[in-house]
Amino acid sequence: MIDPKQVHSILKTHQLADGYPMVLDLERSHGVWLHDSATGKEYMDFFTCFASWPIGYRHPLMDDQAFQQELLLVALNKPANSDLYTTSMASFVEAFATRVTPPEFPHHFWVAGGALAVENALKTAFDWKAHKVGVDQVNDGNDLVVIHFRQAFHGRSGYTMSLTNTDPTKVELFPKFPWPRVHNPAAHFDLDGNIDNDVAAEERRSIDEVKAAFAKYPNRVACVIIEPMQGEGGDNHFRPEFLQALRDLCDEHEALLVFDEVQTGFFGSGKPWLWQVKGVAPDIVSFGKKSQVCGIYANSRVDDVPRNVFKRPSRINSTWGGNLVDMVRSRRFIEIIEEEKLGDNVAAQGERFISGLRALAKDRGGFDNVRGIGSLIAFDVKDGATRDQLLGRLREQQLLALPCGPRSVRFRMPLIVSASEIDRALEMVANASGAWLLSV
Ligand SMILES: Cc1ncc(COP(=O)(O)O)c(C=O)c1O
Repeated sequence: MIDPKQVHSILKTHQLADGYPMVLDLERSHGVWLHDSATGKEYMDFFTCFASWPIGYRHPLMDDQAFQQELLLVALNKPANSDLYTTSMASFVEAFATRVTPPEFPHHFWVAGGALAVENALKTAFDWKAHKVGVDQVNDGNDLVVIHFRQAFHGRSGYTMSLTNTDPTKVELFPKFPWPRVHNPAAHFDLDGNIDNDVAAEERRSIDEVKAAFAKYPNRVACVIIEPMQGEGGDNHFRPEFLQALRDLCDEHEALLVFDEVQTGFFGSGKPWLWQVKGVAPDIVSFGKKSQVCGIYANSRVDDVPRNVFKRPSRINSTWGGNLVDMVRSRRFIEIIEEEKLGDNVAAQGERFISGLRALAKDRGGFDNVRGIGSLIAFDVKDGATRDQLLGRLREQQLLALPCGPRSVRFRMPLIVSASEIDRALEMVANASGAWLLSV
């Protein structure tokens, strides 16, 4: 067995190992607490492996014997799920497609990785649009474009690098498509939770740019893609009115509306999908992270084209078609989230955290624009350097959080977080910020 103190040096010898200094102890971590086997310290985990670990560590209901036997059996194998099926796969697909996906979305596709989920949403849209306008009209698809947003993050794979525009390091020097990129009309919130910027004017600017893109590429826009809340780009929230305007434009111009819910989906907002909170339904949703299995689901708009990608073999596919171990674990997560009503829990705890943060900001100052829903909470400080220092101070308090956008701190709580844990986190934020934050 490797000494935990050796982990970083071993990794550094063979790969870039610029990650967190701690070593995750999978036996001793519990609930919201991440145990560092190198130091023995425990951290409150409000980073949750970049919003991908939904129900904390060693949840007692994961101790179910039948589940563990099934998990071990599938872990000893690795079938090509796209073409060779198992009862484990069928019970996952049935659970996900009937208890997580709403009924208006009959089509599903599974893959490993959020960026690949987005890639396949784009491929679905390209195929659909090409057939809509005539396959001989689109220069073998090369004329098709995707409208997307400033500060979007959709991943670091081939197509998605043409959409991602947060930290330039992530995409520079890799060939990209010059697809139309438009303004993101983010809301800004005062400390009572009211929007305090002229968001309607921001939305008009964005919608004008979307209309200009449709005019510049007549009959060539395959889809409009947006995160219903931009994560890495700055936890930027959009009003339902704006998402509805995009919905209307996509209908008018025969483009698909794609919501990328890799970061926000699978109960992150309390509901299975953030778009359900907003009340505006897309045509395709890409998902990943907390759902463990990544992929897309689509409504029947794709069926306008009879031989669409969900009907014609090998248009979208991969060897493993997702991972069977992830499928078995995801199904168990669905059962636990339902049984313990964890969506309702995180919605309530998110509100508690936001109110506490707003009270703290009113009382002490130093940060503002407290915003969020469910497990997805953020606030702003004056600049990126202050934010980075504050993240370090939070870690000294043993609270793990994440950066996003130019100057935001974001929290990604596990769905199991309790009221007393939220109160503890608030104390840690108070200790880390306080007079120091006002002095910088
Ligand atoms: C909204 C969004 N889309 C796509 C991705 C890419 O997912 P992955 O890193 O699993 O490829 C992410 C990852 O952070 C994301 O937040």
